[in-house]
Amino acid sequence: MNAPHVSVLLEPDWAAAALVADVRRGLGSVPRSLPPKWLYDDAGSLLFDRITRLPEYYPTEAERSILATFAPSIAHSCDATTVVELGSGTSDKTRLLLEAFEGAGHLERFVPVDVSEGVMREAAAQIARRHPAIEVEAVVGDFTLHLGHLTRYEHKLVAFLGGTIGNLYVEERAAFLGALSDSMGEGDWLLLGTDLVKEADRLIAAYDDAEGVTEAFVKNSLAVLNRELEADFDPDAFGYVPFWDPRLQRMDLRLRSEVPQRVRIPGAGLDLDLAAGEEIRIEISTKFTRERIASELGAVGLEVAEQWTDGAGDFAVTLARKGVLTPRPEG
Ligand code: SAH
Ligand code: AVI
Repeated sequence: MNAPHVSVLLEPDWAAAALVADVRRGLGSVPRSLPPKWLYDDAGSLLFDRITRLPEYYPTEAERSILATFAPSIAHSCDATTVVELGSGTSDKTRLLLEAFEGAGHLERFVPVDVSEGVMREAAAQIARRHPAIEVEAVVGDFTLHLGHLTRYEHKLVAFLGGTIGNLYVEERAAFLGALSDSMGEGDWLLLGTDLVKEADRLIAAYDDAEGVTEAFVKNSLAVLNRELEADFDPDAFGYVPFWDPRLQRMDLRLRSEVPQRVRIPGAGLDLDLAAGEEIRIEISTKFTRERIASELGAVGLEVAEQWTDGAGDFAVTLARKGVLTPRPEG
């Protein structure tokens, strides 16, 4: 077997230093918020995995059905020899892509990129066992910081699945897409999974499941702060408030302080005075239209080649290509 090679781009104290900075910036000012990457410690990754199997949470199965049908034609259309996956997690659906690319006969390398090291190492090892003919070069890194690492790979397809792009705020998304395009050579491919705008009832149900798994996932952020920064959040003193924002076309997942309370966060040198009813935004999940996807990709030089949706029209997978610049005529 070809054991995966793992590059760790995060400094040894990255989690501590970056978490402190994010907590001071996000919780120390109003409106209060936290970046969602802190949701994915080992417990959070397991909770996310449970979410993907909930009856109300349609995106995972919708995207899987698109890949199950179209992966062979994606592999046929793309000449990529390296498949990169951003926010790869368990790389579960990606196996459909890897099988199709290997079947098409031109896959040499798989590069999963994730901040969640344990989950990614396990997935990379499984994929290396299953595909002994390809190199697996895993990257423990942050896709908002480390896209420059990807410039070393030519003839690549960058997969960003699951709708994770929707978890970035609008200004972060624009910066991310610009950096992503910069990390791609002419003729490289992007395969982007995005959840689509739909009726509010279905969206709210997907993020407010009957079993309470999504609430536990969102509240896990408080457990991360308690463990990493010796904070004293009491998760039971917060209510879960998921709502659809029709103007910004996004789900907004918040925790609301049920009572006036002081929370101590010694690791960040912060005491947080929360009024009853005060909210902390933990995650957004933006939903897209097909036109908006094409226009945001076009703005960074990525031209849509094809776009597929599942049978119900819930989710889209878009294949785009970095524009090939034609040389200027001489003279
Ligand atoms: N792609 C998988 C997993 C989605 S969950 C799917 O489609 O099901 C989101 C994943 O992105 C998690 O594994 C999380 O650890 C990772 N992630 C979140 N923010 C990240 C960041 N800034 N950089 C790298 N990975 C990130
Ligand atoms: C990873 N991401 C696309 C998920 C989403 O749907 O926005 C995270 C999630 N949060 C709550 N449920 C699922």
